[in-house]
This record gives sequence, C-alpha cells and structure tokens, in this order.
Amino acid sequence: MNTFVTGRRLARELGEWRQAGPAYRALADRIRVLLMDGRLSSGARLPAERELSNALALSRTTVAAAYSKLRDDGYLASVRGSGSTLILPGRQRGEHALNSGLPLDFTKATAPAWPGLAAAFTAAAEEIPAYLSHDGFDMVGLPDLREAIAQSYRDRGVPTSADQVLVTIGAQHALNLVARTLYSPGERIMVEQPTYPHALDTFNSLGARIVAFPVRQDGGWDLPEALLQIRRTAPSMAFLMPDFHNPTGMSMPAHEREYLAAAAQREGTVLVVDETTAPLDIDRGPMPAMASFSPHVVTLGSLGKLAWGGLRIGWIRASREVLARLLRNRPSSDLGTPLFEQLVATQLLRDLPLLAASRSKALRHGRDLLVGLLAEQLPEWDVAVPDGGMSLWINTGSISTSALSLAARSEGLGLVPGPRFGLDGAFERFLRLPFSYGDAELRDGVDILARISSSVGAEPLRIPLQAVI
Ligand SMILES: Cc1ncc(COP(=O)(O)O)c(C=O)c1O
Repeated sequence: MNTFVTGRRLARELGEWRQAGPAYRALADRIRVLLMDGRLSSGARLPAERELSNALALSRTTVAAAYSKLRDDGYLASVRGSGSTLILPGRQRGEHALNSGLPLDFTKATAPAWPGLAAAFTAAAEEIPAYLSHDGFDMVGLPDLREAIAQSYRDRGVPTSADQVLVTIGAQHALNLVARTLYSPGERIMVEQPTYPHALDTFNSLGARIVAFPVRQDGGWDLPEALLQIRRTAPSMAFLMPDFHNPTGMSMPAHEREYLAAAAQREGTVLVVDETTAPLDIDRGPMPAMASFSPHVVTLGSLGKLAWGGLRIGWIRASREVLARLLRNRPSSDLGTPLFEQLVATQLLRDLPLLAASRSKALRHGRDLLVGLLAEQLPEWDVAVPDGGMSLWINTGSISTSALSLAARSEGLGLVPGPRFGLDGAFERFLRLPFSYGDAELRDGVDILARISSSVGAEPLRIPLQAVI
C-alpha cells in the first residue's frame, strides 16, 4: 500500500534541512536521508510540487529541481497523473537484506551473540523432541520460561507470578501487541523525547497522536512537563525507558520512578516501561523497577540485547486482566512464539547473572575505548559518558548529523542521524554512536567521522540552532 505524505508532514520531518550550497540539493539530500533511515518508506508518495513549495515557503522551481535530482539519482519514480513515489535503489520493495551491505554499520546498537549461546542451542536441541507431540501454537509461553521470567522480577523485588507473564517474539512484537490493545483511535500516546525510533513507528502506524516530554542529558526526565502533558492531553499510555534509556543511556532516579508511577496511576495513563536495555549495566548498580511502584505498570523485556538479537524472545509483564486482553488480541497478528527459541531462552535465564556480567565487561571496554577515541579525534564533540546501555548520545555542537550520515555512507559507514530519535526534526546536531562493536570497528568508525566531520561541519547552517531538548 502506498502511503501518502502530506506537505505539512514532510515539512515537519525535514526539520532544519537547509545547508550551505544550493537549496534544491539540500532538500533532495534531506529527503534521501529520511528515506534511508526509515522515517519515509519506500513506496511513499511525496506531495505535489506546489503543495510542498507552499508548506516550505519555497519556490516551486526549487522543489521541482529537488524532485528532479532525486529522480536522476534513482530515488524517485514519477508517473504522470499519479505523483512521485520514493524508491530505495537497488532493492525491490518488500525485499530485505540481512545487513546494510556497508562495511561498517553503526545504525544498530546491538552486539554479537553471547559466547555461551551455542551451548544453549545444543541443550535445547536435546529437549525439543519431548515437545513435538504438542500442537506447537504457543500463545502464552512455556510454563518453565514464564516461571523463570517471573523469578527474574522477584529477584529484583517485584512480586510476580508466572501467570503475569506473556512470552512474545521479541520486545518490538510485545510493544505492538500492547499498543494495539491499550490504544483506541483518537487517543494520545506520550513518549520521551528523544525516544526509541521503532516505538514511534509503532505508534504512527496506529495513527496515534503523539505527545512528548523531554529527557535532557543535563537535567534528566522533565517530570513537571510529563505531568502537564498527562493532565492536559490524557494519553491512554506513556512509553518509557527508565533504565539506560535508548538513545541517551540515562537512568531515571528511584524517587522519580515512584512519583511518575503514582501520578500516572492517579490520572489513568498506563505506563508502558520498556526494559530491553535494563540489563546492560556497566557501573550503575541495581535500581527499583518501575513495576514495583504500581500494579498498573506494563513492563516489556527481551533477551535481544543481552543474549542475541537473532533469538527473538521477549515478554510482557502485566496484571492478569491486561494479559487476558493482550491474549485476545494476539491471534490477529501471530499464532505464538516458536518453541525451540523458548527452550533456548529458558536455559539462558538460568545463567542471567553470568550473561549480564559478561555483557557488562564487554560494554565497559567498548564505552571506554570509544570515549577515548572521540576525546582524541573529535574533542569539540560533547560526549556524555553513560553508566550503561550500548551507545553514546553525542551533541556535536554544530554538525548536521543528517548531512554527516550521507557523507559517512559514501565512506562505507552507516549512521543514524539524531532526528530519527525525535519528533518533528529535533536533535539534528545529535548522533547516537554504539560502543558494542569490536576495537577495530570502533577505531575505523571514529577515523571516518574525524575525516568527514570537518567538511560537513565547515559551513555553518543558515538556520539558528533550535532549542535542544
Ligand atoms: C528500547 C528498545 N526496545 C525494543 C527493542 C527491540 O527489541 P527486540 O529485538 O527484542 O524486538 C530494542 C532494540 O533495539 C530497543 O532498543
């Protein structure tokens, strides 16, 4: 299905698109960035030239020249009478590559499989014959796995029984199911700004109206603003990452968790707390889970960051009532979680402390190396050092990270520009850099960034800095 992008929406997504040099080229480049980082999809129809020129207060000739450049470069197909459709060159629509094809891909904050994973697969292979008489459609999760997940919450001081746990095909699946279940058309959903991009994709796909409150590296979660938004817009749900927030790596202080959980419960907003990154502690130490402060919190978890993204095992912890609603909604999208991977996950949960310690050690090494390399080669970048997570959230000061990501691509380095993590083009000067890669990759990546940043940053942007939130 073709999505139609209105002029107003495109203007919002473009954010601060102007660069030094011809306007048509800057506009074409920025549309290309939006396509490459997923904010616009292949197959989406761009607004008519006149509509976009009105939305951007720009001459129609400039818009026509930008579209023409995109067409010449193979990013746009125009058919008379049916508008202009975006295409990703070299890839048919619907086709998907396992990796980006770039020699260095820093677009994902993820790590290779935990070394002990292969042994867990071998053990699962021995167990699977006992399950082959089962019909195989497992909508709730294997009892042993649900119990192991419940135990992991009890170990963190959150009383949980196995019937409060639903096993899913990763946390992204869990988020989709929760959002489809808790959200009704016309309602609002509150997010942190910046936030996890695929959460925005999920909420946008439901047509939700999104409201945001800031998470600032120098001041943390803006709770007065969150409460104001909750009171003013009555969102049905709020999506949060209080532990090693993606992308900033920050953690919400315990007293703020308690305050927000109580306020949301009072106002009838369900907190959906994504703990996918929560096990990635480097040198922070334990914190109380948000769910320990309110029975209404819905928590999402995953083994994706800790063990391996390819395992595709996640879960939802919620009240029995919410779980029953989720279960009723599940068959419209999938018919259960694969059994083999659940057996692997059950093995892994037995080794949770070992897994977390091993990840922590590797992440500490990667973080310290990347921070050191940046201090040497890009000292003007403002790098906050997180105490967990998998990435740095960097304020480059003056560099358009959309332009930087285009320049990096031509050097074989994949980057996600800052605005992918925000609403309406915010964070143009921010960059998320994962430190979960090997030493050589981190060194090569920083070498490329140091080489290209001077040319990208050399020309000041003509538009004044927008408020950094
Ligand atoms: C905050 C957050 N939530 C969810 C996910 C997706 O998790 P999964 O791979 O389990 O679907 C990710 C992965 O990057 C993430 O960072």
